Amino acid sequence: MDTTELRERAEKIKWYHTMDLGQGVITHGCIDQAKVTLPRIGLPESLAGRTVLDIGAWDGFYAFECERRGAEAVMAVDSYMWVPRPEFTGKAGFHLAHEAYKSRVYDQFCDVIDLDPRRTGRYDVVLFLGVLYHMRHPLLALERVAKLLAPGGLLIVETHVVERNGSPMMEFYPGSELGGDPSNWWGPNVSCASALLSAAGLARVRHMTELPQLSGRAVFHAECD
Ligand SMILES: C[S@@+](CC[C@H](N)C(=O)[O-])C[C@H]1O[C@@H](n2cnc3c(N)ncnc32)[C@H](O)[C@@H]1O
Repeated sequence: MDTTELRERAEKIKWYHTMDLGQGVITHGCIDQAKVTLPRIGLPESLAGRTVLDIGAWDGFYAFECERRGAEAVMAVDSYMWVPRPEFTGKAGFHLAHEAYKSRVYDQFCDVIDLDPRRTGRYDVVLFLGVLYHMRHPLLALERVAKLLAPGGLLIVETHVVERNGSPMMEFYPGSELGGDPSNWWGPNVSCASALLSAAGLARVRHMTELPQLSGRAVFHAECD
């Protein structure tokens, strides 16, 4: 694909992720993930020899980044935003980036709740970034996610949190209270998000306070025994 075609195709897409597609073409995402969010999640610098599952991948920034970091195999999964909607362009961004990068990232259309290790296999690293608060049933979703980790595997969760210390609690958004988006359902506080991860059967749950923080967001790492 030449530069003109790449630029023209990129300009027709409503991007969530800011990605350098090469040939000087940079997509217009909502934020610059490479600068703002990637440094916050504690993704291992090298993923050589490890398999990765990116749940809620959208345009695929993190899945392609894992491939760039040497992952042996990467699977990108999404459902909601991979369906074309009037104000968005579905999976077009993922497809174009995949083509531009000559990527080997696999993809599967699947709702979190329907993910099943008998079909998808288990992964050494699972990314669950910006998805937890979109879940109607967050504990059930985390139980499904936990089952996708290989023994010794690492789960990285990035999420909206409410800034309230104390006992585990979640704020419920029956309408569009959070960011005007009706697909947001729950805002846990940090202790609730940690407790949900433990209750889902994960081990060594850590709130990654040593990483750069964004207000109203938090990152957790957890492992599978
Ligand atoms: C806020 S975006 C986060 C995108 C990306 N993970 C990131 O952190 O930049 C939430 C993503 O989760 C996906 N998502 C929401 N509900 C989902 C579900 N039930 N099953 C699979 N994906 C879902 C959306 O389609 C969207 O791509």
